Amino acid sequence: MDSTETPFEQRLRHNAGKVEAMLNRLLGDAGLDDEIVRPARLLNAMRHGVLNGGKRLRPFLVMETSALLGGNAEAALRVGAALECVHCYSLVHDDLPAMDDDDLRRGQPTVHIAFDYATAILAGDSLLTYAFDIIAAPETELPADRKMTLVLALSRAAGIGGMAGGQALDLAAEKEAPDESGITTLQAMKTGALIRFACEAGAIISGAPAEDRKRLRTFGEKIGLAFQLADDLLDLTADAATMGKATGKDAARGKGTLVGLRGQEWAEATLARLVMEAAELLSGYGDNANILTETAGFVANRKS
Ligand code: IPE
Ligand code: IPE
Ligand code: MG
Ligand code: MG
Ligand code: MG
Repeated sequence: MDSTETPFEQRLRHNAGKVEAMLNRLLGDAGLDDEIVRPARLLNAMRHGVLNGGKRLRPFLVMETSALLGGNAEAALRVGAALECVHCYSLVHDDLPAMDDDDLRRGQPTVHIAFDYATAILAGDSLLTYAFDIIAAPETELPADRKMTLVLALSRAAGIGGMAGGQALDLAAEKEAPDESGITTLQAMKTGALIRFACEAGAIISGAPAEDRKRLRTFGEKIGLAFQLADDLLDLTADAATMGKATGKDAARGKGTLVGLRGQEWAEATLARLVMEAAELLSGYGDNANILTETAGFVANRKS
């Protein structure tokens, strides 16, 4: 353990360890009921795309929002792992030559480099599908109506009106520069939607009242925006060794980002404002929400 870690960082690392172990178990060699065979090369590509040291921020948000509202911790861990499968699929496809064409992810060769293009596409497909399997499976011990609500919310967050749609707008924006509101919309979709789901999921898992779900959803929207703003800032200011992925690419590809449009100072001021607004939303939960408030700060000030 690193003795300079803050209690928040310790908790992030501790939860990430649990998520890693769960994902490792879920992506084991043994097939589940009604699976005929798990082709080894495809499974290895999925493992390469998932078990490679991400921050595990999205599962962390699921686990911590669920803990805040008294949800079942084991179910939250499984839902968090499911969401991480969707996130990792989005990264595997985002890195493909037809999209951002990146060779490096989390400090390792991207899946299509380590394997091949077709395997990377199929690894993404399998991870997306598996996410819904993990939520629906009997091992996720939640009432059926909550599972249904989770599946619906995750579908909406990942699909045409969410992450995948946002990725389409992001690619279109390389050709025709969107204005500020266009960029905000595409970012709320490509990155924000999964982060918003992560926060809302805790309320669904715990069966919390509608007001809590709405509050956490808005919290998720704020930190989702902050997350992509920080990503765009880091693309400009950080190096590939720290990030584990190429940097300086947004400007080179003519990506529409708010940092590109409004500049670094504006981005830093906006991040500070978003963190404050996020914290205010949770003030009614008192000290119980400290972890989530710190998470908002972490998202905005992260260095990788
Ligand atoms: C990177 O997400 C992709 C974006 C949505 C900007 P993360 O920064 O959460 O990546 P990992 O999971 O920690 O590698
Ligand atoms: C990625 O945005 C968003 C998704 C994968 C959905 P970026 O293209 O900016 O992410 P990085 O910088 O490659 O991680
Ligand atoms: Mg991209
Ligand atoms: Mg990319
Ligand atoms: Mg980026």
